Amino acid sequence: MNIGIDSIAFSTSNYFLDLRQLASHRDVDYDKYCIGIGQTKMSIFPPNEDVVTIAVEAARKALRKVSQANRIDMLIFATESAFDLSKSAGIYVHRFLKLREDCRVFDLKQACYSATAALRLAKSHVAENPDSMVLIVASDVVKYSPHTLGEPTQGGGSVAMVVSRDPRILTLEDHSGVHTADVMDFWRPVDRKEALFDSKLSVYNYLKSLEISFGRYLEKVNFSAYDVDYACYHAPFCKMARKAHRQIFKNKSVENTLIYNAVIGNSCSASLYICFVSLLDNSPEDLGGKRIGFYSYGSGSVAEFFSGLMVRGYEDMLTAEENRRLLENRTEISFAEYENFGKADAGGKKYKNIGDVTLADVENGRRMYAENSP
Ligand code: HMG
Repeated sequence: MNIGIDSIAFSTSNYFLDLRQLASHRDVDYDKYCIGIGQTKMSIFPPNEDVVTIAVEAARKALRKVSQANRIDMLIFATESAFDLSKSAGIYVHRFLKLREDCRVFDLKQACYSATAALRLAKSHVAENPDSMVLIVASDVVKYSPHTLGEPTQGGGSVAMVVSRDPRILTLEDHSGVHTADVMDFWRPVDRKEALFDSKLSVYNYLKSLEISFGRYLEKVNFSAYDVDYACYHAPFCKMARKAHRQIFKNKSVENTLIYNAVIGNSCSASLYICFVSLLDNSPEDLGGKRIGFYSYGSGSVAEFFSGLMVRGYEDMLTAEENRRLLENRTEISFAEYENFGKADAGGKKYKNIGDVTLADVENGRRMYAENSP
């Protein structure tokens, strides 16, 4: 049975900071950001937008192309930016999407890797229950402290994928190479909003884990690296994906996978799959029948290299124009606003949400979401 991605869509915040502004206020040469790390803008989240509100928007877009959403009996919310250690963020999404009551809903966490764990789990679930569909929503907001090396690599976004049999975009192949190692390269203790990291170790371990997981993948499959036509990588910043690509595929281009991430920033669990959407939307070549490799990396660390085959006619499932408009129509914020954006209370000034759902208030830890009136 062919199982894989039947529909996919992403969203991010309506607001961004141009990294020219950050460079000038931090007294850094803008070329370091633009060329050195490959980023030009980063999504910034107002207090009424969070991993749930952008997830609902991504999921609604993905479901527009799915006529039998009542087959969804599992919703997996992949995130490392959860605000509640008990209640799953996915339950709010379940409510706004009006999914069936006998749908299993839970969160998965392992840094930027969790959406890939969700994808493997979804594949097994559909293999056991061929009429089921699984909705995966990967959603993260990445924050580093001001003046740190990580500051220009903040961002955030959400990707929603429907996994089913006879998928219309990508059939997942069976084999993958996995590598897990206890490495302290990036972490966020529960009392902190901003992540902590060891720059050099994180870059080293990302590349080392790629070498090992890709090697394990090649040992299992009955083809060679030359049979992987394109590859998408977890992209904490675009230069990282370019380095990864150079390490394993010398002659192929990765640029079309990075167009969206360059202006969104790091979206952690969603990042790899936003790269995939970027490739789908921007490839001049018909990708039907091509093999796409995926490198998923989550600090801490777990890495996995796997692949899928593009389904012919996948173009009918794309929303490339809408995706470009979403990114072009965002509002630029000033540096002063950037410094204060995260500080306002959810009940304060209302900024425009990317979709129809807003975080209206937080009271005693209870998050109250509401549908924006038209
Ligand atoms: P840094 O120390 O600021 O940068 O760290 P650098 O000094 O290494 O410079 C970066 C590049 O810019 C270099 O090029 C410089 O030469 C170049 P490279 O040698 O790499 O090819 N450069 C310039 N180029 C043009 N003009 C200039 C100029 N100056 C320098 N004037 C780093 C950069 C991104 C590592 C830092 O921002 C950071 O630590 N970020 C956070 C951690 C991170 O993203 N790590 C990535 C791997 S771990 C991961 O992906 C997991 C993660 O997503 C979390 C999770 O799993 O949940 C982070």
